[in-house]
Amino acid sequence: MTFSPKTFRIKSFGCQMNVYDGERMAELLAQQGMAAAADGDDADLVVLNTCHIREKAAEKAYSDIGRLRREDGTKPLVALAGCVAQAEGAEAKARSAMIDLVVGPQAYHRLPEMVRQAATGGRPVDTDMPAISKFDALPKRRRANPSAFLTVQEGCDKFCTYCVVPYTRGTEISRPWADIVEEARALVEAGAREIVLLGQNVNAWKADGRGLAELIRELARIDGLERIRYTTSHPADMTEALIAAHGEVDKLMPYLHLPVQSGSDRILKAMNRSHSAQSYLKIMDRMRAARPDIALSGDFIVGFPGESDEDFDATLRIVDEVRYASAYSFKYSARPGTPAAAMEGQIPREVMDERLQRLQQRIASHQLAFNRSTVGRDTQLLIERPGKHPGQMIGRSPWLQSVHVETGAQPGAMLHITLVSAGPNSMAGAAAVAA
Ligand code: 5AD
Ligand code: SF4
Repeated sequence: MTFSPKTFRIKSFGCQMNVYDGERMAELLAQQGMAAAADGDDADLVVLNTCHIREKAAEKAYSDIGRLRREDGTKPLVALAGCVAQAEGAEAKARSAMIDLVVGPQAYHRLPEMVRQAATGGRPVDTDMPAISKFDALPKRRRANPSAFLTVQEGCDKFCTYCVVPYTRGTEISRPWADIVEEARALVEAGAREIVLLGQNVNAWKADGRGLAELIRELARIDGLERIRYTTSHPADMTEALIAAHGEVDKLMPYLHLPVQSGSDRILKAMNRSHSAQSYLKIMDRMRAARPDIALSGDFIVGFPGESDEDFDATLRIVDEVRYASAYSFKYSARPGTPAAAMEGQIPREVMDERLQRLQQRIASHQLAFNRSTVGRDTQLLIERPGKHPGQMIGRSPWLQSVHVETGAQPGAMLHITLVSAGPNSMAGAAAVAA
């Protein structure tokens, strides 16, 4: 057989780290002479870059695979990538005959070679975790969005009892300082104005005795780079130096995503989180002291095994105390192999549904209050993409709000605006008229 795929499509699910990996796989395939399939066109190769964090996300991968068979009975080459690939390895091939190759998040630099093997009838699997080497094997960055992702750290050693990440992404590894600075420069040359540093535990990044705060200060010296963000952080790694950087580095945006998961110390302990509700609140207070206008964000899980009404009330209380500018909340999902999956007191679905709804209402009211509190501010918008209406563009404020504005400015432009009205999920801005 001489079939060789010429076009590809990559679908990424789950977190921003997967989006980053998806971009890098696209660059790698392009370097091999393949082209991204146009919208609506069939692709010769489909890469599903999957997420394993909750059961629903993992199941999505298999339902998507089923839909790849074409009406005439043929199919594209199908690559299963990402965290489901890592978790299931060769088992995935047994589960679906549609899958031609399985590649884990630490092995995708081998994708072109594996595609060649698959095109000649092999069904390769690679879920090895060689320390960091994939980054060395990837091509230099040549294209970048106005806001570009840059993975600096991967993996997790915290072992929260509900979480699969330590198993799918391995132990904590930090990329070297010089590699990150070089990639950041390349992204800025390629058009990025903002860089979002990524890691499962990004604030645990360290190399040669230096931490994330020092890395941020170094990146802030790059001309043409206007904004720096980082996500996702763990409370245990929120150092004084990092908190201080928020008050001192202008390019570091006034936003922090710091998951708490629950407001109940009993549940936090069962989750093996190393913080209490109080110690978390203290960090948030120190953040506000360093940067009074900071937008605070977090993650929550409702219905962790054993969560009582009182425990859940404590979660609602912490939401009120922090007054989140935004937050993400999820129903607990038992993941195979995690300690929590075997715990007693699994919570019925209806209880989880009801708690999630109440939590999300509470979060939404704080989100709206935060957005309203910013109306009237003069600020900078990084224009990212066109809106629904002609002449409308969408950009991000420093507080990560999505802002609609009528303007002729193009993606990548920094626009001086006034925030004029607020909804729960987005804002409207007015471009300042030049005097
Ligand atoms: N069930 C539900 N939510 C989870 N998260 C992680 N593991 C689970 C799970 N088993 C949530 C946490 C984490 C976010 C990325 O996903 O809130 O911060
Ligand atoms: Fe999904 Fe977590 Fe893997 Fe990201 S790291 S892809 S959220 S399982």
